[in-house]
Parts: sequence; structure tokens; C-alpha cells
Amino acid sequence: MTTIELASDADRTAIEGLLAGAGLPLDGLELALGTAVVARGPEVIEGCAAVEPYGSYGLLRSVCVAVDLRGTGMGHRLVEAAEKLAASRGIAELYLLTETAEAWFPRLGYLPATRDQVPAALTGSPEFTDACPQSAAVLHKRL
Ligand SMILES: CC(C)(COP(=O)(O)OP(=O)(O)OC[C@H]1O[C@@H](n2cnc3c(N)ncnc32)[C@H](O)[C@@H]1OP(=O)(O)O)[C@@H](O)C(=O)NCCC(=O)NCCS
Repeated sequence: MTTIELASDADRTAIEGLLAGAGLPLDGLELALGTAVVARGPEVIEGCAAVEPYGSYGLLRSVCVAVDLRGTGMGHRLVEAAEKLAASRGIAELYLLTETAEAWFPRLGYLPATRDQVPAALTGSPEFTDACPQSAAVLHKRL
């Protein structure tokens, strides 16, 4: 059975493996590990989602599901769990950058935004400054 749980320090290597396998950035991951969830399967970590906290704003990142488990609703469950965790930590709005899932996040209530709309607190994060190209889509959700 798979459960969605708060990530622990011991999950870091598995999370990095998932992200690297999907071509997602590892830059700044340490900023988000305290606000991350994993899908813990009987043997391995099957998925993850994380939030970099910046006061009442958060950067949703590192949403990833193991290739053979995609399309089973796990991505949806991971994002919902990450949102719940973020809200419990006082985060009211989430932004994200994506090159691969611009059409998927609107299913979860995320709306397109422009870089100009992103609060300054987030634009200094490694994803904005280094990891994601200017062409990455920006999406936003008020929790
Ligand atoms: C994007 C991702 C997290 C979705 O997880 P998932 O568990 O497959 O998603 P769900 O099962 O909740 O939803 C599946 C539905 O979304 C659609 N979908 C999945 N990935 C999509 C994408 N990248 N773009 C558009 N639609 C997508 C599926 O076709 C499916 O549609 P259906 O319900 O009409 O059949 C997963 O595909 C993944 O890990 N991708 C690689 C990493 C990535 O791109 N992460 C996002 C950037 S942070």
C-alpha cells in the first residue's frame, strides 16, 4: 500500500533520484525538503511534491511520480497533500514554474500567471534565477 507522508531527511536520495530521472532540477531542493511530501510505497518512494516557503507565499516544485505509476491519480494526491502541508505552515498562495506540465496543473486549480506577478520573495529562489529557463510557464493558486 502507498501512503502520502511528510518527507524525512532519509528520503532525500530517493527524491533526488526521481527528479533526476524526470529531468527536473535539484537546485535549491534543500530549501523545500522541510515542506515536502512523498508517496511511500511498500519498497520505494513512488512520488514527491515540495514547497519552498517564503512567508505567506510558496513555490510548488519537484512534483514527480515514478514513470510506471503515472496516470493513477498519484500526482493529484501529492499536490493536494503538499497544498495542505503548505497551508498548515501559513502559506496562502502558491506559484510554480514548469516546462513539462503547463496543461496539467490547471486541473488542480492553478491559473497562468506572468513573471511580473510573482512576488519578489520568490523571484530570488534558485528555480527562478538558475534552474528554470525564462520560457518556463508560471502558474498560481490561492489556497
Ligand atoms: C505531471 C505528473 C506529476 C502527473 O502525475 P500523474 O500521477 O501522472 O497525474 P494524475 O494521475 O493525477 O493525472 C493524470 C492525468 O493528467 C494527464 N497528464 C499527466 N501529465 C501531464 C502533463 N505533463 N501535461 C498534461 N497532462 C498530463 C494525464 O494524461 C491524465 O489525464 P486523464 O485523466 O485525462 O487520463 C507526472 O506525469 C510526472 O511526474 N511527470 C514528470 C515530472 C513533471 O513534469 N513534473 C511537473 C513539473 S514540477
